[in-house]
Amino acid sequence: MARKIIIDTDPGVDDTMAIFFALRSPELDVLGLTTIFGNVAVELATTNALRLLEIAGRSDIPVAQGAHAPIAGRFNGPADFVHGADGQGNVELPPPSTHAIAQSAAEFIIEQVMAAPGEITLVPIGPLTNIALALHLEPRIAQNVREVVLMGGNAYEAGNATPTAEANIWNDPEAAEAVFAADWQVTMVGLDVTHKVNMTPEHLARYEQAQNPLAQHIARIVRFYRAFFERHYPHLQGIYVHDSSAIAYVLDPSLFQVERWPIRVELAGLGRGKTWPGVVGNVAREGALPWEGRPPVNICVGVDAERLLEMELGQLTSA
Ligand code: BDR
Ligand code: CA
Repeated sequence: MARKIIIDTDPGVDDTMAIFFALRSPELDVLGLTTIFGNVAVELATTNALRLLEIAGRSDIPVAQGAHAPIAGRFNGPADFVHGADGQGNVELPPPSTHAIAQSAAEFIIEQVMAAPGEITLVPIGPLTNIALALHLEPRIAQNVREVVLMGGNAYEAGNATPTAEANIWNDPEAAEAVFAADWQVTMVGLDVTHKVNMTPEHLARYEQAQNPLAQHIARIVRFYRAFFERHYPHLQGIYVHDSSAIAYVLDPSLFQVERWPIRVELAGLGRGKTWPGVVGNVAREGALPWEGRPPVNICVGVDAERLLEMELGQLTSA
């Protein structure tokens, strides 16, 4: 039976690749997309989620709109310099012909999880606000999800939004703290691995050549995203794809090397949004403050990048 997932997303170029990767994977049953501010404002995230499902011919999948701002403070603003003002590489897509459902993202997550205890994996690939809100409204979802596999955070790698913090966590550190504190199985697919998955110009050329509408859409929108990487990561040939790695983990965890430590999120100062694993040097500190009482998180620290990329490109570029 296909594995049930809900993708919480702020599409976003790499979100688009992850959503399409999931939709093209018969091992996965995408129950819904829930939207969140982040790469774009939440209203545009919802519009894009609907557009992407239309391109994929999957408008049967519901979209539920989520939070427009973090739990504490204000939205830092969109990442238009990475993903384009439209979150889709400024390609001028037509408006969607479908609408989001009336339920909020948190309500949808709660309803789905409680209706199928132990079956649903949450895959957040944006800021964690909706997940924290769902936990707050219905704490029993922690015992009733199968797993949370999130793209975000950095255990040993430097940050990308700031010198210390990864963008999804930095956009709502308080929400991330709530997610890492809850008693459920969380897997963190963060910059420690996504900065090891480099989609090269040769890989990207395969989207251009593929004759399916999903690959063609990726080929169009990735040009803007790639230009960002050329400006900001001159040592890199091509792009980091980030969000697809969370989908890859759900499909095949053996792609990754994992360490198990609790996580604390730094909430103040220069380090705001930094995810700290419960190990200092080589010394395990998980039982000591500030990690005391926290459940262990699967922290992805290594990845078979070539195998992952072949898996993703194989699914997305076949006819
Ligand atoms: C994360 O930040 C967003 O810009 C990407 O979509 C990804 O989810 C990477 O840090
Ligand atoms: Ca994202």
